[in-house]
Amino acid sequence: MERIKLFDKTFKTFIPYEKIEKTIDTVADQVNADFEGCTDIPILLCVLNGSIMFTAELMKRLRFNCEVVSIKLSSYSGTSSTGQVRQVMGLTADITGRRIIIVEDIVDSGNTIMELQKILAEKGAASSCICTMLLKPDSCRKDLHPEYIAMEIPNDFIVGFGLDYNELGRNFKDIYILDPEAQDFPETETKQ
Ligand code: IMP
Ligand code: MG
Repeated sequence: MERIKLFDKTFKTFIPYEKIEKTIDTVADQVNADFEGCTDIPILLCVLNGSIMFTAELMKRLRFNCEVVSIKLSSYSGTSSTGQVRQVMGLTADITGRRIIIVEDIVDSGNTIMELQKILAEKGAASSCICTMLLKPDSCRKDLHPEYIAMEIPNDFIVGFGLDYNELGRNFKDIYILDPEAQDFPETETKQ
C-alpha cells in the first residue's frame, strides 16, 4: 500500500488505477448503449476541476459524436462541503436545445448537481443526465438518482484521479483515502 502526504494529511491507496479503468469501461458501455446511433450531438459537460481525468477516460471510450463543454463549480473547502456552490467559470459554449451528459467526479451531498441542473435548465438545455465516477450514497440526497455510476464508496474523504484536498492530489492516478491513524507521517511520500 502506498501512502501520500498532502499538506497536513496522510492518505493511503484505496482504489488502484486498474480497477478505476475497469469501472469506466463498464459505465462507458452503458452510456454507449443509450447514445450510440443518436442523430443529435450530445454534450459531455466536464465539471472542472475534479472531472478532468474522468472526462478524458470516459470520452476515449464513447462511440458516438459528442462535444465537450466545461463549467467550473466549487463547493469544498478542506475535507468537507461548505454547502454553498460557487460558479467559478460559466459554461464554455451555448447549450440551448442540446442533450447534456453531466460528467462528475463524485456526487456527495448532491448540492453541486442540483445547482448545475438549475443552471442547465436556465440556459435552455433540452435534457440532462448524470454520469458520475463516484457516488457516496450515504450522504447523497435521496431524491437524486444519477443515471450512470462507475463506483459507490463509503462516506469518506478521498483524493486522486482528479479529486483534491485543497487543490493537491489531483495528479495521482490511483484514488486514496484519508488515513486517520497516520496523521504524524513524515512529510514526503512513503511506501510500505
Ligand atoms: P456535493 O456538492 O456535496 O455533491 O459535492 C460535489 C463536489 O465536491 C464534487 O464534485 C467534488 O469536487 C467535491 N468532493 C466531494 N467529495 C469529495 C471527496 O471525498 N474528495 C474530494 N472532493 C470531493
Ligand atoms: Mg467535482
